[in-house]
Amino acid sequence: MPILNVTDRDGSAKQVDVTMDGSLMQVLRDAGYHIAAECGGAAACGTCHVYLDEAWLSKLPEADEIEAEMVGLLEATRPTSRLSCQIMMDDTLDGLTLTLAPEE
Ligand code: FES
Repeated sequence: MPILNVTDRDGSAKQVDVTMDGSLMQVLRDAGYHIAAECGGAAACGTCHVYLDEAWLSKLPEADEIEAEMVGLLEATRPTSRLSCQIMMDDTLDGLTLTLAPEE
């Protein structure tokens, strides 16, 4: 199973062993990160906002229109901003590096 390199909002970094299927948001919550996920993963709240490492951005499918629209409504966006609920975990994401965006 993949390993993620996750930096929390306070700057602390650690590796997360992925032991479940589902979205990146679900994996991060399962690992104990505080993600409100108010919309339950429907790309409608923005609380699962993460910054991907730039090298990983091109390896993932592009954000669809709904995700891009939601990201556009957030304040602290970067070019590598994604909604973690819209990224499905699989073995190709082994080593994925990301930082949790500030809560808005
Ligand atoms: Fe609401 Fe991802 S959980 S946008």
